[in-house]
Amino acid sequence: MFPPERILMGPGPSDVHPAVLRAQSQPLLGHLDPDFTPVLEQIASGLRTVFRTGNPVTFAVSATGMAGMEAALVNLVEPGDDVVVGVNGVFGGRMAEVARRAGATVHTVEADWGRIIDPAAFIDAVERHRPRVAGLVHAETSTGVHQPVAEIGTAVADTDTLLVLDTVTSLAGVDVRVDDWDVDVAYSGTQKCLSVPPGLAPITFSERAVQRVRERTTPVQSWYLDLTLLLGYLDGRGGRTYHHTAPISSLYGLATGLDLVLEEGLEARLARHATLGALLHEGLEALGLELLAEPGHRLPQLTTVALPDDVDEAALRARLLTEHGIEVGAGLGTFAGRAWRIGLMGHACSERNVRLLLAALERLLDQAPAPTATT
Ligand SMILES: Cc1ncc(COP(=O)(O)O)c(C=O)c1O
Repeated sequence: MFPPERILMGPGPSDVHPAVLRAQSQPLLGHLDPDFTPVLEQIASGLRTVFRTGNPVTFAVSATGMAGMEAALVNLVEPGDDVVVGVNGVFGGRMAEVARRAGATVHTVEADWGRIIDPAAFIDAVERHRPRVAGLVHAETSTGVHQPVAEIGTAVADTDTLLVLDTVTSLAGVDVRVDDWDVDVAYSGTQKCLSVPPGLAPITFSERAVQRVRERTTPVQSWYLDLTLLLGYLDGRGGRTYHHTAPISSLYGLATGLDLVLEEGLEARLARHATLGALLHEGLEALGLELLAEPGHRLPQLTTVALPDDVDEAALRARLLTEHGIEVGAGLGTFAGRAWRIGLMGHACSERNVRLLLAALERLLDQAPAPTATT
C-alpha cells in the first residue's frame, strides 16, 4: 500500500502529524490492561482542556463524528420529546433527522446557507416549545459559518432544555467553551482540527446531561451508544468492565494528537488558525473570488468560496489534486457545483499551504477556458 502524498485542504480529514502516525503503529495493549488506563486518562484530560470543561464524563466514542451526534441525541432524547434544532446547512439538517429518528418532534430554526442562526430567533423557539433538547452546529462545515453560542447557552441554561453543540469542525480550531457557554453535550471528530485520523468522536456530558440519561423512562435506542453502559468501561470505579473492544491504536493516535495541541498551547493553536484563515480569505478575495459565509462569522479553518460561473469547478478541483497534490472539497447542497470548501485545519494549517494553494489556484484560473461569447 503506497498511497500518493497529498496536502489535505478539504473539509477533513486534514494532514496528520508524523508523531500521531508513529503512535498508531506502537504495539497493542489489551483494552483492559492496567497500562492502558493512563492512555484513557490522558485522553480524557486532554479533551477537557480543548473543550474547556471540568465535566468528568469526557471521552472518545469509538466511531466517527456522526456517532458523536448520535450518542448525544439518542441518550438525551426520548420518544415524544420536543427538540429544537438550528438548520443552516447540511449538518444541522442531519441533527434534526437524527433527533426525529430517536422519536422527537423536531422544531427547526432556519437560516439561509452562509448565514448564522439568529440567536434571538433560536432563544425564542426554545421559549415557545420548551424542548427537552436544543441542538446547534458551532462550525457548519457545509457553509463555513461560525455560529455564536454564548448568548444562546446562557438563555438555555435557566430552562429544562439541554443544549447540544456539534463541534466536529470547531474543536481546536476556534474557541470552544463548554462550561462558560453552559453546553450540556458537545461532540467532535478527530480528523479535523485535532489532526488525528478519522475514527473517534470526542464527547463531553455535563452533570445534568448524565443525570437526564440516568432518569430516562425508556431504554436508549442504541445499545452501542448507551452512555450508562459505556460508563461501565469508562468510569474506573469498581473496575473497568467490557462493553466493546476499545480501538487501541486509534486511541494512541488521539492521545498523541492531544499532546501536540497542548505542546503548542491551545491559545497559540487558535491564534494560528485565526491568522492563517485571514490570510487565506484575503488571498482568495485578491483573486477576485467571493466568500460565501457572512462577514464577521467566517470560520478560519473552513472557507466556502464561489468559483467563477464559467469555470468547471470539478475539473479545476481534479487538476488541483493531480497537478499540485492539493485536495479541497466540493460544495455541498445549495453550494454544490459552484463552490469549494477549503480546509485549513490542524497540522495542515500552515502559511506554506496557504501560499501553495493560492499560487496553484491563480495558475489554474489563468488557464481556465475563457467565457463563451453570448449571441
Ligand atoms: C459539522 C459536522 N458534523 C458532523 C460531521 C460528521 O462527522 P464524520 O464524517 O466524522 O462522521 C461532520 C463531518 O464532516 C461535520 O463537519
